[in-house]
Amino acid sequence: MEMSTDKKLGINMNAADKLIREHKLNKDEYIDLLEQFECENMDRTNSSCGLANDLAAEAVRLRQAIYGRDVYVRGLIEFTNICKNDCYYCGIRKSNPHIERYRLTKEEILACCENGYDLGYRTFVLQGGEDGYYTDERLADIIRTIRASYPDCAITLSVGERSYESYRMLREAGADRYLLRHETANPEHYRMLHPAELSHANRMRCLCDLRNLGYQVGAGFMVGSPYQTMENLAEDLVFLQEFQPEMVGIGPFIPHHDTQFADYPAGSVPLTLFLLSVIRIMLPYVLLPATTALGTMDPLGREKGMLAGANVVMPNLSPVKNRKQYELYDNKICTGEETAECRGCLAHRMNTVGYQLVSDRGDCKTPENQ
Ligand code: 5AD
Ligand code: FES
Repeated sequence: MEMSTDKKLGINMNAADKLIREHKLNKDEYIDLLEQFECENMDRTNSSCGLANDLAAEAVRLRQAIYGRDVYVRGLIEFTNICKNDCYYCGIRKSNPHIERYRLTKEEILACCENGYDLGYRTFVLQGGEDGYYTDERLADIIRTIRASYPDCAITLSVGERSYESYRMLREAGADRYLLRHETANPEHYRMLHPAELSHANRMRCLCDLRNLGYQVGAGFMVGSPYQTMENLAEDLVFLQEFQPEMVGIGPFIPHHDTQFADYPAGSVPLTLFLLSVIRIMLPYVLLPATTALGTMDPLGREKGMLAGANVVMPNLSPVKNRKQYELYDNKICTGEETAECRGCLAHRMNTVGYQLVSDRGDCKTPENQ
């Protein structure tokens, strides 16, 4: 018994060292690493987890060498909560009759950008449900107008699965980046989180199309989603390692009361922070947000995210009147009347841990981009 623990520790120590040295591991090695983390983190006599601290230190060192202590800000404009999909985890899924649906007009979206530009935002993220009202023409028109008004800003889209032709038109209209979390790299797990109309294969097709069209692409997943295993997380890490996205969004799963996963437990904050460090080491140049979900699960989640290797925050720039209606999960932060100045709040929060928000498009600083 003792010997096998020792042996195991030996192997795992190698996994962490190897990740630091080579920036990649195979699936079994990621499983070892995650198991060692769970083991140390479960041990309540351990006030802090040595493995997590070691990897966070390395993650921060790498992030610091490339991006310093600058934190990029993305102004998130949640422009429609109407969605044709029925993802089992999501509060705005189509069969939730208890939410009030809304759609921002083009003028309202432009007003968000104007306000955001004055506040110092240089990236706008248009995020919405898969809302058929936003045809390629309508969306391209909005993108073209933003592109013409703010030539120095990046435009990021997060509007789900569309055709190659649609992605092509939106790119041509002026969109630079696209966020589409892969959600889970395992097709069977994907099936447990989504209805039959949605497939892992189409998700992958979308990610490849986006990459081929020259978008900077963001992938990602929820930590602790229902039925997720350590093996699944290892598969997510291997997928990210192979796909090499410019951006990775991860956050804890948080149950929404109007979904079939209402009674499932939320994902773990320490595990999310650990994964942020692992992802930073694997992809040193990646743009890695400390997400709103992390800030929802822990009042200091986003600050802790920076200390684990993150370098992006995404404050809400949506009209205050609509913020409560974009509730993907329960108790989402930054939705109250008092939080119109999300950016100011985050600037202050980042300062408390020695980081500063910057007014910059915040492109990925891969060596090729230099
Ligand atoms: N908890 C945490 N994250 C969620 N998302 C959707 N629903 C939830 C939830 N209940 C995430 C998904 C999606 C992104 C926009 O928000 O990963 O891709
Ligand atoms: Fe949104 Fe504090 S970050 S209100």
